[in-house]
Amino acid sequence: MKFDAPAGSNVIDEAKVVGKPNTRIDGPLKVSGKAPYAYERHDVAANQAYGWVVGAGIAKGRIVSMDIDDALAAPGVLGIVTAPETEPVAKGVGNNVSAFGGSEISRYHQAIACVVAETLEQARAAAQLVRTRYESADGRYDLEASRENAPLSGDPQTSGDFDGAFAAAPVQVDSTYSTPGESHAMMEPHATIAAWEGGKLTVWTSNQMVNWSRQSLAKMLGMDIADIRLDSPYVGGGFGGKLFIGADAVLAVLAARKVGRPVKVALQRPLVTNNTTHRQGTIQRIRLGAQADGRITAIAHENWSYNVAGATGEEATAQTPQLYAGANRLVAEYCTVLDLPEGNAMRAPGEAPGHLALEVAMDELAEAVGIDPVELRILNEPDTMPGDPEKKFSDRNLVRCLREGAERFGWSARSTTPAARREGRWLIGMGVAAGYRGSPGMASAARVRLETGGRVVVETDMTDIGTGSYTIIAQTAAETMGVPIEAVTVRLGDSNFPASAGSGGQWGAACSTSGVYAACVELRRKIGEKLGFDADSADFVDGQIRAGNRRFDLADAGSLAAEGEVSFGEFRNGYDVGTYAGHFCEIAVDAYTGETRVRRMLSVCDAGRILNPITARSQVIGAMVMSVGMALMEELAVDKRFGLFVNHDLAGYEVPVHADIPQQDVVFLDTLDNVASPMKAKGVGELGICGPGAAIANAFYNATGIRVREYPITLDKYLTDLPTPA
Ligand code: MOS
Repeated sequence: MKFDAPAGSNVIDEAKVVGKPNTRIDGPLKVSGKAPYAYERHDVAANQAYGWVVGAGIAKGRIVSMDIDDALAAPGVLGIVTAPETEPVAKGVGNNVSAFGGSEISRYHQAIACVVAETLEQARAAAQLVRTRYESADGRYDLEASRENAPLSGDPQTSGDFDGAFAAAPVQVDSTYSTPGESHAMMEPHATIAAWEGGKLTVWTSNQMVNWSRQSLAKMLGMDIADIRLDSPYVGGGFGGKLFIGADAVLAVLAARKVGRPVKVALQRPLVTNNTTHRQGTIQRIRLGAQADGRITAIAHENWSYNVAGATGEEATAQTPQLYAGANRLVAEYCTVLDLPEGNAMRAPGEAPGHLALEVAMDELAEAVGIDPVELRILNEPDTMPGDPEKKFSDRNLVRCLREGAERFGWSARSTTPAARREGRWLIGMGVAAGYRGSPGMASAARVRLETGGRVVVETDMTDIGTGSYTIIAQTAAETMGVPIEAVTVRLGDSNFPASAGSGGQWGAACSTSGVYAACVELRRKIGEKLGFDADSADFVDGQIRAGNRRFDLADAGSLAAEGEVSFGEFRNGYDVGTYAGHFCEIAVDAYTGETRVRRMLSVCDAGRILNPITARSQVIGAMVMSVGMALMEELAVDKRFGLFVNHDLAGYEVPVHADIPQQDVVFLDTLDNVASPMKAKGVGELGICGPGAAIANAFYNATGIRVREYPITLDKYLTDLPTPA
């Protein structure tokens, strides 16, 4: 199915099953511990051996020698794969960073060996006996120090005359913000079991993008893609950290080949942070020039970030071409090469830290102009995409999000003067931020089978990374085939199934369900051919088919299968297909100790059709939790001497826990975007992390009168400035 024109009315509009608050169909399996995660698949291959990963002890340089004799002689050891003996293999599709191999060291905790033994304990003990000598080289690890010479990354986007308009503006804001590197910190570490049978390879792993990763493995190993099967039915969190094949998979594959047995490898928790990818830090300068009434005339967002050579930075300007009107514009990205671990996608890459700057700059502008921050945003609402006026918005309801949010949150109770509201020892503040995140269209395929008796089975390599894919896919098939959701079986994550869009960039829900819809339409057509009716004008309802004045039972069709794929046509490029939110927050700051407590959060989201309000809400509140982390806690601490993230475990890398999280409300406008997808749905998973952190920062300012522009907003940065009463 080529989606090459806006969706007209279709069977999904009936919304008998789609859009209903179905609880997760995989929920019982998960809460009872029966959903098998990659490392727990004890039954998929007999005689599994255990791998233990050895990580490099330097950040940059080379391995001079590696002595593995003692380790090889240790009890239970079956073999050792070492980097120097292995040709370097790049990660493959979409990523040329080395996954394993060679003597060069380019990041701390880079995998340099995998020790394989009969038991995990034996592998771990033997790994301590590997003796590696390095030759260290000097590296660059400091973004601030490298910022001045950072080259442009891509062309700046300009329109009008920013410098002239900014200089002439009666109201100006010129602020610089910094955000630190962040770690995905998912619960399930990267893990893989690999088994060879003849020349064929099976990999049971934890991965967001089955099709990409299978292609990567084929490229790495010089194999025919048909000889590789990758299976990832359950993923214990990814957040972008499992978009690509990692060292766990490469090592399991190489080790299994070496020892002639299936091998399982989980990256040990202390290795995850430096060995895998992270969200890079940024330094962002924002300049806003406005008329006295608050209308923006000049807007500039410049961002400095870093990565390994040949890769892009954390592109924090991503939302700025979309959000606010203003004729004179400058958006520029600079990226310097640092020798830190590879930076790559983490939930809403670019926009998530970008909002922490832009949406605080808007708060600063509102104060400078002297108008309400909600009104300032509404005043600067554009008609077409400001950074590309040729583009129309497919469907944009940001103003509604802000107005409805303000109303529901009780925004009018906010004090316009900072540090003016107190409850005993607590300073109370409220903040708002807008949110924007794109909603891309990615091709997605599925197979749907009608089984004898009327059961419907859906198969696609789509993943469920905790997002609810199983459930919304079942709802889509149930709606289209006219059966109850209980009559649908969903199988995901296996590369033997048709290739889906996968889970990334908040495109998963809208695109994968569109692919399932396309496959169901194909199946309906086949059923029509078999039973002799025109499927396009027939109704599939309650296990029955009504075609003109004829009636069939769905089960009359016997057993039939169909495949379908949605692909997205050119017409969509004429639009900016975005999702929007109004985020609100109330916090309390202890005037004596400086303790900051988030008290209430609300996000009003405009993301097209909501396929399931339970799973969608769960996505947004999870993202709001991550936003609390971004604003107040999370920071990869760089050791600038040795080039590593020091806090590389879940004790040192602080993320919010239950006790940190207050009442959270999510409201969906439940609009329909017929340009976005046949489902008229868009993404929500990343929208929820675009803005709430800025709302927290703005609430903090409103509570205390202190602007902390260096994230996270921690005690050391404001304690001495608190307006503590005498
Ligand atoms: Mo996402 S950060 O593309 O999983």
